[in-house]
Amino acid sequence: MYTRVPLSDLPTSLERMPEISRIYDNDFYIKRDDLAGPEPGGNKARKLDYILGEVKKENANHLITTGSPFSNHCRLTAMAALKFGLDCTLILTTDQNPSEINYGGNYFIYDLLDVKIKTVPLAKRQEAMQAEYSELKSTGKKPYLIEAGGYGNAGTHGYVEAASELKADINFHPGRFDYLFLASGTGTTQAGLLIGNYLHHMAESIIGISVEADENSGSKKIKNCIDEYCNENNLPADIIKQDVIFIDKYRGKGYGKIDDEVIKVIREIAKKESILLDPVYTGQGFYGMLSFLQNNNIRRKKILFLHTGGLPILFNNSESFK
Ligand SMILES: Cc1ncc(COP(=O)(O)O)c(C=O)c1O
Repeated sequence: MYTRVPLSDLPTSLERMPEISRIYDNDFYIKRDDLAGPEPGGNKARKLDYILGEVKKENANHLITTGSPFSNHCRLTAMAALKFGLDCTLILTTDQNPSEINYGGNYFIYDLLDVKIKTVPLAKRQEAMQAEYSELKSTGKKPYLIEAGGYGNAGTHGYVEAASELKADINFHPGRFDYLFLASGTGTTQAGLLIGNYLHHMAESIIGISVEADENSGSKKIKNCIDEYCNENNLPADIIKQDVIFIDKYRGKGYGKIDDEVIKVIREIAKKESILLDPVYTGQGFYGMLSFLQNNNIRRKKILFLHTGGLPILFNNSESFK
């Protein structure tokens, strides 16, 4: 039984995008999970709601997690720890010299929150996580390990719940969506939405735009999350897994590399809708969505984009916009 500790501020709003709808000849809506606090929010807050439920169950008092120096998940985990009176260690993975890390965006926020930071090469991630866990245990602490990106069954619960919120949203915007798009990384968010869609049928198709993984490995991770949740809740995993669509062809230059096409889309959404996207996740996702619609000649459909947050990464990369 998973329980929720309310870190996120729910429900988030669902808004129509009138200008983008006019320009791109589809009816676009956006679900504002970028506003699911603590500010500046993001999809990891919904996942952490259920991860914190597990932390509470185990009576743990020190969170350990990992990610890149610009990880939104690390930022929200650190904020969650402080909010609920827990300690926190972030194992940041980079092959850069720590002194060369851009002191901005999420990295600046980790420093502001004054949580413990250890920087290791990516290849040493698991080793460093285990070493921190053992070290804390030996000093009498009760540490809790959270996977990179909040991947896992607890996080899936957060987005199954988001789907029931979307079901309530569509009562105000008549009819269900033809497509729901999102930027997909570890795949937990997409897995939760797919299970929720089986239960509530909010969209005809859910399409994950990969920000990093290739189609095979990305789909596999989503399917693993679906299996785990469905085993726990007695749902037909095989039927739900048939709906996994994870597209890797809009990754541009690769994870974390800033693309000119993505910058153009971010500028356009900012100017036309007053909504800020970031260049690594949501800008990439929005760009992938527009490209997919155009490449497949899809028009006059009702489209939802899930805004999963990432605002600090926009400020991290302001130089690329000059
Ligand atoms: C802003 C943003 N959007 C999307 C994602 C992808 O979410 P998931 O890992 O659940 O696929 C992340 C994950 O890091 C993120 O930070």
